Amino acid sequence: MPRLAARVNQIAPFYVMELVKRAAAMEAAGRDIIHMSIGEPDFTAIPAVVQAAEAAMQAGNTRYTAAVGIPALREAIAGFYQTRYGQTIDPARIVVTAGASGALHLACTALLNQGDEVLMADPAYPCNRHFVTATGGSARLIPTGPGERFQLTAEAVRQHWTNRTAGVMVATPGNPTGTSVSYDELGAIVQEVRNRGGFSIVDEIYLGLSYEGQGKSAVGLGEDVIIVNSFSKYFHMTGWRLGWLVVPPHLVSAFEKLAQNLIICAPALSQYAALACFTPQALDEFESRRRAFQQRRDYLLPEFHRLGLHVPVKPDGAFYIYADVSAHDDDSGELANRLLEHAGVCAVPGMDFGTVDVKRYMRFSYANSLERLQEAIHRIEAWLMR
Ligand SMILES: Cc1ncc(COP(=O)(O)O)c(C=O)c1O
Repeated sequence: MPRLAARVNQIAPFYVMELVKRAAAMEAAGRDIIHMSIGEPDFTAIPAVVQAAEAAMQAGNTRYTAAVGIPALREAIAGFYQTRYGQTIDPARIVVTAGASGALHLACTALLNQGDEVLMADPAYPCNRHFVTATGGSARLIPTGPGERFQLTAEAVRQHWTNRTAGVMVATPGNPTGTSVSYDELGAIVQEVRNRGGFSIVDEIYLGLSYEGQGKSAVGLGEDVIIVNSFSKYFHMTGWRLGWLVVPPHLVSAFEKLAQNLIICAPALSQYAALACFTPQALDEFESRRRAFQQRRDYLLPEFHRLGLHVPVKPDGAFYIYADVSAHDDDSGELANRLLEHAGVCAVPGMDFGTVDVKRYMRFSYANSLERLQEAIHRIEAWLMR
């Protein structure tokens, strides 16, 4: 029998998948389950994107594209940095990828040597450490808590950098906490890394979904910062598998060579369709959806407080609330099971995201309609106060 590579064992499964499977079985048996587990917008692609995809298909735009993406899309993305964030970037620095996942994989492949360490916050989006492992590196999880908004700090970079460290990965706003690193702190992190000759990968997949002001892109922190973004969240195109990188000018041809070899190109139809994301009407629609997410967050936070689900740091972006559930159970894994069983609400225990204090926390996603979230609160309340 063929044997698996050792690295496969270093990649942890998502515990929540067991929960989601149970939820699916309960649904098949007729139970109504409210999903607060999923990191996927409940909105789908806007009609203009669907129409653009149909037109692209009819026009036969279904062949391989340039490895770094079609020029029109790279220009549109660069234009978005100009209009949204006031940042001028050369479209030649944009590499279109198969989602942020493709971008992170490409960046790790390009930047990591065997055994290189990458610093990242604990808790964090679990795939980040898996991309590092899959490309021969090793993720160094830095314990964080409410004091650091669950994010890396410049001080942590100073403290934990060793001669094996190659760089840092930051997601801001982050998953699972929905909290951002302040722009000043991010600048200080980047500077610490720069001083040590390392790389900074900043994942801005949730930057469009910022609720306290517009958010600022790390492209403004220097051409050496590697930016990851995606059409999955703000643009609601999860299954279209489209994202992008902004890379330092001197690395573009290396990223291009790797993209040519590893994926040939991101999906052509998705690229043509995504051009429809950047009209003023489309951007208005995304903004109105962003406000809908904000409204859900603003509904949930006081309700969580009322129910003793303590939220130590107000999430300022994404669609997640990372709540301390210790007033109700000292094991969030157990609580997640019981919440599903008794209240019919599916949410993710902290252990999916790291190692620090994970039994204390759960991630609740509000990528669900306000009505369903209201129903979830009623059910949780009825069960907790039984
Ligand atoms: C922080 C973060 N980065 C990257 C991704 C990957 O997204 P995609 O590959 O759909 O663009 C996700 C998905 O949930 C995420 O939460």
